[in-house]
Amino acid sequence: MTRTSNPTRREFISNGLAASGALALGVSAAELGTAHAQRTRFRGGLDQGSERRGITGPGSLKAHASARGLLTGAAVEAQLLATNPSVEKIVVDQYSILVAENSMKMGPMRPTPDTFSFEAGDALVAFGDAHGIKVRGHNLCWHSQLPAWFNSVATKDNAHQLLVDHIRTVAGHFKGKLQSWDVVNEAVQISDGRPDGLRNGPWLKLLGPDFISLAFRTAREADPNVLLTYNDYGIETDHPDDVKKRAAVLQLVRDMKANNVPIDAVGIQSHIHAGWSTSDGNGLREFMRRIREMGLKIFVTEMDVNDDQIKSEDPADIDLAVAKTYREYLDLMMQEPALAVVITWGVTDAHTWLAGRRRPNQTQQPTPPQRPLPFDAQNQPKEAFYAMRQSFDSRSGVTLR
Ligand code: XIL
Repeated sequence: MTRTSNPTRREFISNGLAASGALALGVSAAELGTAHAQRTRFRGGLDQGSERRGITGPGSLKAHASARGLLTGAAVEAQLLATNPSVEKIVVDQYSILVAENSMKMGPMRPTPDTFSFEAGDALVAFGDAHGIKVRGHNLCWHSQLPAWFNSVATKDNAHQLLVDHIRTVAGHFKGKLQSWDVVNEAVQISDGRPDGLRNGPWLKLLGPDFISLAFRTAREADPNVLLTYNDYGIETDHPDDVKKRAAVLQLVRDMKANNVPIDAVGIQSHIHAGWSTSDGNGLREFMRRIREMGLKIFVTEMDVNDDQIKSEDPADIDLAVAKTYREYLDLMMQEPALAVVITWGVTDAHTWLAGRRRPNQTQQPTPPQRPLPFDAQNQPKEAFYAMRQSFDSRSGVTLR
């Protein structure tokens, strides 16, 4: 394929921006209308005072989401909640579901081959119980963030038992306490070149493709009522890479269903970039329809909007562009009846895994920090917050199954 027919992700996003005429790289006030007019749009025309009063209770994200049959939440750690009262307040006010950003992954969970570290996960569940917030588990089986001892301990002979023991113990420990588990995370990687599109990761190398069904069946035995999710990224846009990956994920889920592997939901991570445009939506829409027709739910599991495509370094411009992308993306997701959960990967811009990933195309140092989340680093709601709320409202009329 030529570069023209197979653009890089960056070129693809730029082309989409130009084609949509909405946000040229180097977003300008002239193209966007005034910043104030745009902000007013996202804030529903409310003034600053009533706006601030209006974001909790009936004005909260969770109230707007629940009115449309959705849970909404964020990735966070109990440690941050315990030490940062501002973040704790946002979480209690806004969210109906939480997920541990790192502490329930195999690496943090397994300091040694014989020990399990449940404290951080237990603390998050306790926080959820205290505030009526659900918790989802992330994750039981992944190629990344494995324990330091993994490579020297895991062999083809013991990997089956290692995976089963891990899932039995961890899912068993949290039995009845979680809304869902990401059982397998990111098992598809087209560039690894396998015909089935599966990632040539550690679990596949040790166990072959059956590690996926083994993980799901073991999770189901350990916790019969928790929703079991396959979670992946890079399946959101109509970039040729995403189109291929989406097809491989769909085939994986189809095969699982055909083999009676217990799976209840597909997680679409939704780490997208500002400039995502509705021209990117058709493939995703179709993918979600097919997932729904197999009887599965859809979760947006890790949403954030990377602003590295926006040339302006003015926070107001960046926030508008990020909010526009939240709105367009979530409006599309809201049309899908199987959508049940919308989670952002972090609460405020002060704690985002994207920190430090700003603008690889720019040499200027230091570059301004990323602004990918609905609350800013001073814990204030941003345009993206209002965009999320408005998107939830747009779900009116969608018939839930
Ligand atoms: C990220 C965390 O946010 C970081 O703190 C950590 O250093 C690396 O992992 N997809 C996933 C998440 O499924 O687990 C990742 O979380 C982000 C990408």
